[in-house]
Amino acid sequence: MPDQDLTVAVTGPTGDLGIALVDALERSRAVKKIVGMARRPFDPASEGWKKTEYRQGDVLDKASVKDALKGADVVIHLAFSVLGAGDKTREINVEGSRNVFDQAVRSRARRICYASSVAAYGYRSENPKWLTEEVPALGTDQHFYSQQKAEVEQVLAKTLERKKATQAYVFRPCIVSGPRATMLIEEIPYVQLSERMPDAVRSLLGLMPILKPVIPDPGTPFQLVHEDDVASAFVSGVRGVGEPGAYNLAGAGTLTMSDIADAIGWYSIPVPDLAVNATAEVISRVPAAPEKLTWVEAVRNPVLMKTARAKKELRWKPKYSGRQTLRALIDAWKREGPEH
Ligand SMILES: NC(=O)c1ccc[n+]([C@@H]2O[C@H](COP(=O)([O-])OP(=O)(O)OC[C@H]3O[C@@H](n4cnc5c(N)ncnc54)[C@H](OP(=O)(O)O)[C@@H]3O)[C@@H](O)[C@H]2O)c1
Repeated sequence: MPDQDLTVAVTGPTGDLGIALVDALERSRAVKKIVGMARRPFDPASEGWKKTEYRQGDVLDKASVKDALKGADVVIHLAFSVLGAGDKTREINVEGSRNVFDQAVRSRARRICYASSVAAYGYRSENPKWLTEEVPALGTDQHFYSQQKAEVEQVLAKTLERKKATQAYVFRPCIVSGPRATMLIEEIPYVQLSERMPDAVRSLLGLMPILKPVIPDPGTPFQLVHEDDVASAFVSGVRGVGEPGAYNLAGAGTLTMSDIADAIGWYSIPVPDLAVNATAEVISRVPAAPEKLTWVEAVRNPVLMKTARAKKELRWKPKYSGRQTLRALIDAWKREGPEH
């Protein structure tokens, strides 16, 4: 019988995923109280949240973490520096996560629900085309985000060794999108690239002066998952449904960059591997972009996940396919007036 009357602490409730997740926790009858913590000032009433208290704090500050996690039955850890993941943010991502996990164990939380990522598997040629949770999450060293996501999973496993009172659900979503999770469209350089592309690359790709932005498409398939579907999987973890452990989360079907271009009404052009590599090489010399360049790795090597375990154990029923998720993202993006 899943738990009731839960107090849930959430780090990073103000982010793309955090807002959708706290919304779902607000609606869950199993949850009595939510305490959120992030660095920015934020008023839960601005989202219409009634069960949520908010504390401003940094995961690197142990006293703030202790205060936010006090009395929590379940700790959800989302706080992470996603796009800025690099040497500078290593402390937030790795040490900040360690602080949260240590405190969760100390305050005897029943469960930790951690937002890992498909990136934790790494972009490794020896991996099978379709990843299951049995494949070791080893990360890719050259890709900060991937390396740190893999390392944080190890930190979590180590923290819980011999600590039987606290269990962990480790969620590995693919790219999360939806009306509020717009990172795909706003931040991934392959989309921004169309405008920033240096002349050298334009001529390499044979691009004429543009009437509409152009997204290069290396043809690599990727998955999308809707923010509400990720939130529902987390709610199952919060309630203690199924076995603890790792869970892949992805919407049905695969997409390519051409699908994004079609959905926005932009152009796409097929790009051979060689040009992707050359593009990466040229962008690495553009001062604005070196950290974001690491995302190029994700369009060079497909990382696709099977989600049978979440469907069986958590009884996860995603409402949106990858394509429907893209539609929801683009509709919201157009409604809210894209800059492009
Ligand atoms: N979005 C995706 O596509 C995706 C896919 C797979 C996994 N994930 C994982 O899901 C989690 C949430 O992602 P997201 O997309 O919601 O990220 P996001 O939009 O960048 O939000 C990050 C959240 O963490 C908080 N935060 C960052 N640094 C912090 C610090 N030092 N102390 C306290 N809070 C801090 C941020 O608030 P402040 O800046 O105000 O502190 C914000 O609330 C991350 O762990 C990410 O790796 C995301």
